[in-house]
Amino acid sequence: MRLQSSPLPSVLLLLPLLLIGLCSGTSFPSNINIGGLFPTGSHEYEVFRFALAQHQDIPKLVPQVDMVDTGSSFAMTYAFCSQFSKGVYAIMGLYDRRTVNMLMSFCGSLHVCFVTPSFPVQTNNQFVLQLRPQLQEPLMALLEHFYWTRFVYMYSSDSGLSVLQRILDTAAEQGWQVTSVNLDTLTESAFIKLLADLDYKKDYQIIIDCELDRLNSILNLVKLRNLKNYHYILANLGFMDMNVTEFQKLGPNVTGFQLVNRSDPAVMKINQDWLDFDSKDLKLARRRLKYTGALTYDGVTVMATAFQNLRRQRIDISRRGNAGECLANPPAPWGQGIDIQRALQQVRLEGLTGHVQFDERGHRTNYTLTVMELSHTGPRKIGYWNERRGYVNTAVYRPVVEEFYGLQNRTYVVTTILEAPYMMLKKNHEQFVGNDKYEGYCAELASEIAKHVGFAYRLELVGDGKYGARDAETKMWNGMVGELVYGKADVAVAPLTITLVREQVIDFTKPFMSLGISIMIKKPTKSKPGVFSFLDPLAYEIWMCIVFAYIGVSVVLFLVSRFSPYEWQGEDEDDEDETLAPEHTNDFGIFNSLWFSLGAFMQQGCDISPRSLSGRIVGGVWWFFTLIIISSYTANLAAFLTVERMVSPIESAEDLAKQTEIAYGTLDGGSTKEFFRRSKIAVFEKMWSYMRSADPSVFVKNTNEGVLRVRKSKGKYAYLLESSMNEYIEQRKPCDTMKVGGNLDSKGYGVATPKGSPLRNPVNLAVLKLNEQGLLDKLKNRWWYDKGECGTGGGDSKDKTSALSLSNVAGVFYILIGGLGLAMLVALVEFCYKSRIESRRMKVSPVCSGGGMAAVGGLGGGGGASGLGGENGRVVAHDFPKAGAQGLPCMSKAAGLGLSSTGM
Ligand SMILES: *[C@@H]1O[C@H](CO)[C@@H](O)[C@H](O)[C@H]1NC(C)=O
Ligand SMILES: *[C@@H]1O[C@H](CO)[C@@H](O)[C@H](O)[C@H]1NC(C)=O
Ligand SMILES: *[C@@H]1O[C@H](CO)[C@@H](O)[C@H](O)[C@H]1NC(C)=O
Ligand SMILES: *[C@@H]1O[C@H](CO)[C@@H](O)[C@H](O)[C@H]1NC(C)=O
Ligand SMILES: *[C@@H]1O[C@H](CO)[C@@H](O)[C@H](O)[C@H]1NC(C)=O
Repeated sequence: MRLQSSPLPSVLLLLPLLLIGLCSGTSFPSNINIGGLFPTGSHEYEVFRFALAQHQDIPKLVPQVDMVDTGSSFAMTYAFCSQFSKGVYAIMGLYDRRTVNMLMSFCGSLHVCFVTPSFPVQTNNQFVLQLRPQLQEPLMALLEHFYWTRFVYMYSSDSGLSVLQRILDTAAEQGWQVTSVNLDTLTESAFIKLLADLDYKKDYQIIIDCELDRLNSILNLVKLRNLKNYHYILANLGFMDMNVTEFQKLGPNVTGFQLVNRSDPAVMKINQDWLDFDSKDLKLARRRLKYTGALTYDGVTVMATAFQNLRRQRIDISRRGNAGECLANPPAPWGQGIDIQRALQQVRLEGLTGHVQFDERGHRTNYTLTVMELSHTGPRKIGYWNERRGYVNTAVYRPVVEEFYGLQNRTYVVTTILEAPYMMLKKNHEQFVGNDKYEGYCAELASEIAKHVGFAYRLELVGDGKYGARDAETKMWNGMVGELVYGKADVAVAPLTITLVREQVIDFTKPFMSLGISIMIKKPTKSKPGVFSFLDPLAYEIWMCIVFAYIGVSVVLFLVSRFSPYEWQGEDEDDEDETLAPEHTNDFGIFNSLWFSLGAFMQQGCDISPRSLSGRIVGGVWWFFTLIIISSYTANLAAFLTVERMVSPIESAEDLAKQTEIAYGTLDGGSTKEFFRRSKIAVFEKMWSYMRSADPSVFVKNTNEGVLRVRKSKGKYAYLLESSMNEYIEQRKPCDTMKVGGNLDSKGYGVATPKGSPLRNPVNLAVLKLNEQGLLDKLKNRWWYDKGECGTGGGDSKDKTSALSLSNVAGVFYILIGGLGLAMLVALVEFCYKSRIESRRMKVSPVCSGGGMAAVGGLGGGGGASGLGGENGRVVAHDFPKAGAQGLPCMSKAAGLGLSSTGM
């Protein structure tokens, strides 16, 4: 009972759910029938089957394939209709130019999608999904890139017509000369004749636009001919599918497009699966997946993805009603066809052929084509094309990419030049052969580089013995640069300066040595110590300053002693009797002051010494001054007596430019001369204007002549040359030249290779490595200093002792001046103080107020200074009360006295 009563409500509850389920596509078929129209045994059919086997997910795609002759309208129509009536959801297949229009109209009217890897056609029929990208745009971009204006376009009428239309349009616009050849109408013999004709007319630029099979057979005919000068563009998406192995040896220009990225791991995996599938299932010759196969595979993937999406979205695609009425009149479109079309068109995925995406007309969009060419080593990428950026050339300079290691068996020619110490013939070079004949920095450098890079080489001296410059008239390069440019040598290892003009025609490595223009002068002869060499430790100005300081101190001491009352003796006795004025004495008259200062300076002292504070301050600072100066002198004297000094008249380029006594010049026609000619720096301009106009000429023909001239000219010629050579010659006998000053500019020597040489990179890396390992420094030390002939003594001239200059001891002069000033101030204070005491005693106004100040002011004047002289200093105290406001006449009276008498 209970069982009967309960089911009813539960059924009632479930009913709406069931209804919803039924109406909303739980009935989505788990098997999707897919039609297929392929020619018998075609590659695309095999891949189609392979792809279906790979896609085993729900809903499962079930093939309904008909093997048809794609060229036969009748067979195609029949097969199409029979598949449609069997209820396929979409059809995959191939067409050719005779059936494509019929297929399109069927698809359009019945709303059945046709997915195809066949050649693309210009159509707005959205039901035909064309997996193969269009080639017009990439091809036009390539033509533009190569600047083709006269060429032959060979096409097959299947795919080529739309491209031909495009080319002819552009040709009319741009005035190109295009010869078009329809390959369909040509027999083999006619084709051979055509090739001969092209040869004759020198039509060397050819586009071939056809399917792979025909392309291979055409190339087989083409390669029998002389291919030099030809450039082929293959308007085909399977550049690497072609059989180009023989072409490669001939090395013509062949450019083409590649759709499938064969080095992509996903592609490689599917290709491997394909080969496995191929061999076990079809027992056919193992064949690579061609690009049409890849397109087919992607087509199946697109379908599988589309149906999965439809299923996920629960869209009803069941085929009810008019199933099979293919030839009904009027045609009845399939209602759900548009949903499937939309689903297929919206698929986006990364397939074997790159990014798969369709526009609203069912054409591929947003795709990228790799542009390839044939090099001697096989196909290689030179760029790519996509809609957004057009053709992008990514090719590196041709020969650079050429595998270096393939050429390793060669013996490379290393050009060089005899130039000590870079490259020299050994003394006993007759006993050696080949590279062993040479020694030097560059000989070792070349051997190190060859060791690092791993090549065999032969040193060869440059034929004309020049470094390399361009002849102004013939525009030909000479020297080592010329040998590289004209292919006579592979590398130049020599002291070859890196310059702009050379870099334009050859490649340099990073510099292996840095240098600059420097000055070479004859080493000054060592000067014998002169009779007055004891004066050398102190500079001339210091001696002068000492003399002035001595006089100044003496005078100040004298003045201060005159002023300061404490310097006067016998004053106490004076108090009793004012008439005994002459008994008042002062030790520091002018001669005594000079004597005192001299005694102190000579470290001897003397029997008088100041008693007043001011006088003692003067004495103190002078002693201090003396102490410092004498100590400095003594210390420096020792160094001067032990070192024989070399005084070089020139220390820098400025020194050279300033004087006219020493001539200076450069190599005639070298980079140094150019440097001065071009320089905008004032000093160098001045030097250049001198050099240019100097008579006799200051230019020399070669470095040796320059050095000889320096040596012979007794120091009256300075030679400007590169610092490395300068340093080297300094170390050569007779060791009588030296480098002075810094470098005027900065440049480098580099190893050079011809432009685009495969050696360039490895050699550059080797140079950098040798530098980082410190080997270059070691080499330089070995060839410059270890093998130097002058010992290390020659280099010592730099740390020679020099006289103390005024700036070294200026401080002590400041202290001295400060001390003297202080002493004068103190003397004034003493004077005022004493006179105040005195005046209080005498009941008169102090001298330091009123007219007294005028008297002191008079001290500033020249005459006033000596006005205080004389022994009767007392006159000041005694005359003031009488003089009062007339202090000045009194002072002048005193002046007269002062001049006539002195303390001693
Ligand atoms: C390849 O083509 C380029 C451009 O047309 C041309 O400069 C070059 O000489 C050709 N090379 C060969 C080997 O024909
Ligand atoms: C490529 O050409 C060579 C020589 O013509 C031939 O031996 C080889 O089988 C060909 N390969 C293919 C895949 O056609
Ligand atoms: C092919 O794929 C590989 C791996 O994804 C990638 O490194 C390479 O750049 C691709 N080549 C081209 C021509 O796109
Ligand atoms: C083009 O393809 C890339 C992936 O390759 C995608 O990210 C991008 O959105 C696509 N562009 C358009 C306009 O669809
Ligand atoms: C170099 O030559 C030797 C014999 O001449 C040969 O055995 C070797 O394979 C060659 N190496 C290269 C990289 O060509």
